[in-house]
Amino acid sequence: MRVGIGILGFGTVGGALLRKLIDENASISTKTGLEIDVVRVAVRDTARERPVNLPAGVLTDDPMEVVGDPEVQLVVEIMGGEDPAGDLVAAALRARKPVVTANKALIAARGKELIGIAEEAGVPLLFEAAVAGGIPIIRPLSETLAGEQIDRVLGIVNGTTNYILTKMTEEGAEYKVALAEAQELGFAESDPAADVSGADAAAKAAILASLAFGTWVASDRVYVEGIDRVDATDVRIATELGFVIKLLAVAENTAEGISVRVHPTFVPGDHPLAVIRGATNAVFVEGPSFDELLFAGPGAGGAPTATAVLGDVVDAARELLAGAEVAPPIRFQPGRVLDFEAVATTWYLRLEVVDRPGVLAQVAGVFADNEVSIKSVWQEGEDDGATLLLVTHAHTEGRQRASLEGLRALDVVRDVAAVIRVEGAGPTPNL
Ligand SMILES: NC(=O)c1ccc[n+]([C@@H]2O[C@H](COP(=O)([O-])OP(=O)(O)OC[C@H]3O[C@@H](n4cnc5c(N)ncnc54)[C@H](OP(=O)(O)O)[C@@H]3O)[C@@H](O)[C@H]2O)c1
Repeated sequence: MRVGIGILGFGTVGGALLRKLIDENASISTKTGLEIDVVRVAVRDTARERPVNLPAGVLTDDPMEVVGDPEVQLVVEIMGGEDPAGDLVAAALRARKPVVTANKALIAARGKELIGIAEEAGVPLLFEAAVAGGIPIIRPLSETLAGEQIDRVLGIVNGTTNYILTKMTEEGAEYKVALAEAQELGFAESDPAADVSGADAAAKAAILASLAFGTWVASDRVYVEGIDRVDATDVRIATELGFVIKLLAVAENTAEGISVRVHPTFVPGDHPLAVIRGATNAVFVEGPSFDELLFAGPGAGGAPTATAVLGDVVDAARELLAGAEVAPPIRFQPGRVLDFEAVATTWYLRLEVVDRPGVLAQVAGVFADNEVSIKSVWQEGEDDGATLLLVTHAHTEGRQRASLEGLRALDVVRDVAAVIRVEGAGPTPNL
């Protein structure tokens, strides 16, 4: 059966998708029974040379022309950004055209509204490629596990930062050196801010949490810390303690409420996420019935992302041709999203202190004043100063931060050189 599609965007993902649709047209048709016909494609610059030649009249620089074309039955949005992509997606859905998008920024910002429009129109809005590119994770969360209690989702959902942290771990590279190499090899953009600041991972974490827990989590409720302050010293110490530093997206659903955060994290060496190297992404899901599930693979790149987009196109086309009204797989319920101050985490701290008797007692006193208990403490370095390494037990961010302020106010503390959260109970070094 034939389905006419319109594509908004012909860049990295669009190029790979069009190549697939043209080169593999016969096998797609044999496998799925669908003849996918690309009717219109929107770009900014129609004069630019493209990797795939399209018949005359297919390209346009007016994306609304694509959405409004009566021959276009299904719209694929792979142009990126919130504007004008959001209004185009809304217009397509209101015209009862199913939409497939890879746009995490758009779904994180306007997902709830757009899913509502899709529900009203009775057509699918699918976004498998929006989180962790080529890894099937949206469908498992929203369909396979739809009836399950999910307690936690942990993810390495940004390939650029995982590549940089892997270089730092395996080669002892400083952050700036690892970033420069990632840029040279095309694993990081020339402006890497969205990746290294954690913003990209935060948008994905918000989407994962919303689907996992059935409560929409706005991306501005995600606590975010990037990797730009991760120091080679802490990467080395983590390794010595049997840990590895990862930029982790953590979504938790507890009796108190939902919390979502993205930050550098000490991950135990025997955790399945510890071995996720380079630009690979992975999502680890925990629940009482299924225990633990790990999804891993390429988190970005034209071809893997186009695979996820094509899967959604096939799914949406089948729904369209079946003619039935489609209900979204998850009905979002109101829920409590916790303020980050109330979330309990374990901390690793590296303090530069003066080397004199009584320092440890003063440091311990600050923690005691804030009712934060210390799990382990050990000392590195000599000369005129010393380095104190501490791991706390899990306490709320509020208490941990109050301790931090107290430490900074101590004369004997020259610098709080690093504060990194720890997944699990944390290391107990052999002293
Ligand atoms: N690249 C990846 O690995 C990856 C992975 C997962 C998800 N995604 C998501 O997929 C989407 C596309 O990413 P990409 O890397 O393919 O982006 P890209 O290479 O920058 O391509 C964007 C395309 O959209 C077109 N476009 C942008 N604004 C337009 C406008 N206002 N009107 C008409 N055309 C417009 C551009 O036209 P011109 O070509 O004329 O400039 C270009 O063809 C994004 O939402 C991204 O987050 C990408």
